[in-house]
Amino acid sequence: MRLIFLGPPGAGKGTQASLLLQRYGTVSLASGDILREALRRGDPIGRQAHQYMENGSLVPDEVITELILQRLETLGKEQSFVLDGFPRTEAQARALDVWLERRGHKRIDRVVDFDISEEKIVRRLAGRRICGGCGASYHTENLPPHREGFCNRCGGELRMREDDLPETIRKRLAVYHRQTEPLLKFYRNQGKLRVVPGDLEIESQYEALLQLLKAEQLV
Ligand code: AP5
Repeated sequence: MRLIFLGPPGAGKGTQASLLLQRYGTVSLASGDILREALRRGDPIGRQAHQYMENGSLVPDEVITELILQRLETLGKEQSFVLDGFPRTEAQARALDVWLERRGHKRIDRVVDFDISEEKIVRRLAGRRICGGCGASYHTENLPPHREGFCNRCGGELRMREDDLPETIRKRLAVYHRQTEPLLKFYRNQGKLRVVPGDLEIESQYEALLQLLKAEQLV
């Protein structure tokens, strides 16, 4: 299966993609994680992206598109994957379609929109903690680590994401409505859009996602 996860910040895209990875081994390409890794490594592209990420705006289309297509290049033509956070503009979506077609790759099967209220988003992002070592994601209440403040996986220190500050969350939401929401129509017109409630508990959201994927005969 080849999926795109859409939805506003905090809708649970990354959380659900990692559950699919654990159960089905589905490769997850998370654009935000890829950019943050590039920044941690000190790559020029990470430094260039940082100025946009820290204030909640989108990294230029050509920068992120090249980065994601380079990753896709390393996958087999039939390899299952989830794209989490890419595409985020119509230009990115069109570039992806063109690339898949030109390379003879299997096309995107479904686009899942996680639909969630803004009130829930703010609570989720305020409680999110990220490992400074490996990038694993936690939540102070909904997904706490075994030892407070430290990563289960690598023992690294947990911290807030710099773009999870209240004023940056507001900016990211506005950017989502203006630049990414139009993609819902783009994929609805392709007949690929499906909606999963994003405001359920993590396990219930996952069940709803699995039900959809089973109904579509993708798992
Ligand atoms: P990115 O990292 O992609 O951020 P985002 O889309 O804003 O998404 P989030 O990671 O905030 O939310 P999520 O839906 O993955 O939620 P999560 O599962 O983590 O992008 C960051 C920046 O990079 C962008 O602002 C932009 O600058 C740049 N960028 C990235 N892609 C780009 C692109 N294509 N084009 C241009 N620029 C790009 O969950 C959040 C929290 O809630 C966690 O703590 C989790 O534990 C908790 N949680 C999750 N699900 C539930 C649930 N069901 N119930 C309770 N808690 C839950």
